[in-house]
Amino acid sequence: MNGWNFLALVALASAATYAQEYKRVCYITNWAQYRPAPASWFPNKTDPSLCSHVLFAFAIIDANNSVIHQEWNDDIPGGLYDQTIALKEREPNLKVLISIGGYNFGMWQVTIMMSTPGNRSAFINSAINFCRTRDFDGVDLDFQFPGSAWRGSPPEDKYRFTILLQEFRAAIASEAVSSGKDPLILTAAVGAQEITINAGYEVDLIHQYLDFINVMSYDFNGAWDVMTGLNAPLYARADEFGVEYDGSNRSTRNLDWAARYWAELGAPKEKLVLGLALYGRSFTLANVVENDVGDPISGPGWAGIYTGEAGFLSYYEVCSVINQGVTRVFHQEHQTPYIYRDDQWVGYDDEESLKLKVDYIKANGYSGWMTWNLDLDDFSGGLGCNAGPYPLLTAINNFLLNTSVPLNSPFPAAPLTGKRPARKTRINRQ
Ligand SMILES: *[C@@H]1O[C@H](CO)[C@@H](O)[C@H](O)[C@H]1NC(C)=O
Ligand SMILES: *[C@@H]1O[C@H](CO)[C@@H](O)[C@H](O)[C@H]1NC(C)=O
Ligand SMILES: *[C@@H]1O[C@H](CO)[C@@H](O)[C@H](O)[C@H]1NC(C)=O
Ligand SMILES: *[C@@H]1O[C@H](CO)[C@@H](O)[C@H](O)[C@H]1NC(C)=O
Ligand SMILES: *[C@@H]1O[C@H](CO)[C@@H](O)[C@H](O)[C@H]1NC(C)=O
Repeated sequence: MNGWNFLALVALASAATYAQEYKRVCYITNWAQYRPAPASWFPNKTDPSLCSHVLFAFAIIDANNSVIHQEWNDDIPGGLYDQTIALKEREPNLKVLISIGGYNFGMWQVTIMMSTPGNRSAFINSAINFCRTRDFDGVDLDFQFPGSAWRGSPPEDKYRFTILLQEFRAAIASEAVSSGKDPLILTAAVGAQEITINAGYEVDLIHQYLDFINVMSYDFNGAWDVMTGLNAPLYARADEFGVEYDGSNRSTRNLDWAARYWAELGAPKEKLVLGLALYGRSFTLANVVENDVGDPISGPGWAGIYTGEAGFLSYYEVCSVINQGVTRVFHQEHQTPYIYRDDQWVGYDDEESLKLKVDYIKANGYSGWMTWNLDLDDFSGGLGCNAGPYPLLTAINNFLLNTSVPLNSPFPAAPLTGKRPARKTRINRQ
């Protein structure tokens, strides 16, 4: 073998190893079971070959700071936990984590839990015990959002979150020694917006305690706003400027900005897992002839027949809308599509935009993707997309695991805008 062939082989081998090491993080939920047939979804419908990690959303925290199940059938024999853990029999390398918190659970008990050493250790010990007695491989902390006043979380929660993670990591290490088992995995789902990041995270500190970080790079725009906008744009558009109603810079509301901001503040890209949305956000237009991004709305779009929430459509419900006939626009600056018909307008993701996002992840050296969530894809293949089971999840697996890494792709590196978090003296550390 000559030297060049040898080098080529080494390069191929390391590319293959690296591809296998990409994180493919799949959230599943314990409430999709309640959707009407045929959209009702249980964890036994997961295809575990399409994920490296399955994160079960959600468990919650009780008034004694202990981790407890949320749904009546989560923790019963043959229940949702058992179905999730059983996926490991089909895919031995799969890791299954319990995700604690969630948007609806909010911050009330999280704030109480984080506020004293005793409360934190009650939580940490209970979380470790929860995993070990049920065979979960780790914990994902989904606290939305530390330090965010609009979620009722006081500013000091930003610093207490760091302390919690530090103590959690130490407890995991000592439990691994005493049990002789592999250490539990510890991850966090984190915000992607300027205000949330600045208020919530000591980015330069927390990454050292986490195995990886799930950046929720979606929900950038929705019917809570006054105008149409894409749920998960890849890039900003040129006419996005000005400070938003919440004090953030509108041009920061995209995956590219969020990823680069987390990295710039000190999180290693090898630990940043970027979120991909398998759903869209819908609007009712104020005036049917104004149907571009940034046009006025009168409220949320119609609810989907299965997910039943105004302003929100699963990917399979987007497919059904498309089947009825719509105008589709692929927005060239945002690199993400939207559809409209009459006064209904939906920004969403499909194979075309997800390919660009996965290429972005590969070309820029991020750790992989996280996806919210499996039950919003056309999981059976019969919910309207006519592209086989899990069309989006399958596509993002292929995009990630395909050996061609687009090293020379034109991913712009414009300077980051936005306010940097003030370097405060740390307060209320205990
Ligand atoms: C999945 O779980 C549900 C609820 O427990 C059950 O009704 C269904 O039969 C299961 N499906 C399979 C394929 O095991
Ligand atoms: C909290 O702990 C106390 C004392 O052990 C117990 O009486 C109470 O039922 C617990 N509360 C919850 C919600 O588990
Ligand atoms: C610690 O947790 C307990 C139980 O939730 C709560 O009653 C107490 O107020 C907490 N301590 C603080 C300082 O918040
Ligand atoms: C690469 O992606 C294509 C679809 O774009 C797929 O058919 C093919 O199987 C993928 N190759 C690998 C090695 O994943
Ligand atoms: C918002 O972004 C624009 C460019 O996108 C930049 O010129 C401006 O300084 C930013 N404003 C703030 C407050 O960061």
